[in-house]
Amino acid sequence: MLDPPEHDRKRRLVTRQFGPPHTPQMIDDMKSELTHIVNDLIDRMQDRSRIDIVDDFAYPFPVTVICRLLGVPEEDEPRFHVWADAIVASLDPLPQDDDEQPTMDETQARREIEQYMGELIQSRRDQPGDDMLSRLISDESGDGHLSPTELTSTSILLLIAGHETTVNLMANGWLTLSRNPGVLERLRNEPGLVVPLVEELLRFEPPVQFLANRTALADISLDDVTIPKGSIVNLLLAAGNRDPEQFADPDQFIPDRTDNRHFGFGNGIHYCFGAPLARLEVQIALDALARRLVNPQLVLDPPPYRQNALLRGPRHLHVDIDGIQA
Ligand code: HEM
Repeated sequence: MLDPPEHDRKRRLVTRQFGPPHTPQMIDDMKSELTHIVNDLIDRMQDRSRIDIVDDFAYPFPVTVICRLLGVPEEDEPRFHVWADAIVASLDPLPQDDDEQPTMDETQARREIEQYMGELIQSRRDQPGDDMLSRLISDESGDGHLSPTELTSTSILLLIAGHETTVNLMANGWLTLSRNPGVLERLRNEPGLVVPLVEELLRFEPPVQFLANRTALADISLDDVTIPKGSIVNLLLAAGNRDPEQFADPDQFIPDRTDNRHFGFGNGIHYCFGAPLARLEVQIALDALARRLVNPQLVLDPPPYRQNALLRGPRHLHVDIDGIQA
């Protein structure tokens, strides 16, 4: 929500902890832990004949990862699940009736999560651990350090971003694979395919459909239209991802599409800095599901969707299976 230079200062301070150039190995070093979490979640489906890709897998996986990364106790997850639900529902500029309404209103959720994070930050200040929150607290750079309020808002942003986006990419991904069984079969036999496939998912079924309420800082000419300075603009990322002037056969899911410059993670100065982590999570997840679920069959197509115009993804994705491959 910030503009430069304030945005850039904060972004530099946080991205220092998140990858190159300061911590270049960080995401790569997480590979084996991510694979372990994924296989553990799949092992737990051992005796089941029906699973929910959302509740049993796509939600708990990134949540576990972001909690461990930040140093948020995993046992508190049921509490911030409620907060994250309420906050994300409030981001929708076009709210609709939903069978599964958040159980808390946004103001209360924001108050409670701020208090929770504030207390957690204080306890890490007193007793630092080997986690990102502790590093954000103690780190000093040319940009100074984050103030207590900035620390709280940034860690809430990371926690919610880690909660509510990757789950949709995984669920949209499994749905798309189920609708394209030939691609699912290719994925089982060509492990390298998962890399371009995840990019194509970010183009074809992006979890973040649009970015609302941007302001044009200058007159902008696009073809024969001028967007006057000061206008409020909504950026329809998902529509841009299907631009026929940019993408051949834009409505086709082509898992090994090349030159795939999609808007799945936005663009420009606010480009998602969780992108390397999200990519790796979804690559590992889809690869493992494809190899380990025996004869997976979608129960309902289309599945029930969450009623949120901003974030697109199934609420549940039930799949019948004949077992789990070791
Ligand atoms: C598939 C998963 C994800 C998707 C589709 C996604 C999508 C996006 C998009 C579209 C933006 C641009 C927002 C804008 O321009 O205002 C964004 C920004 C951001 N994302 Fe993600 N994201 C994902 C995962 C993550 C994860 C895992 C994290 C953190 C752990 C994260 C942290 C952030 C942050 C902090 C920003 C704001 C950056 C800034 O304003 O400079 N995201 N994300």
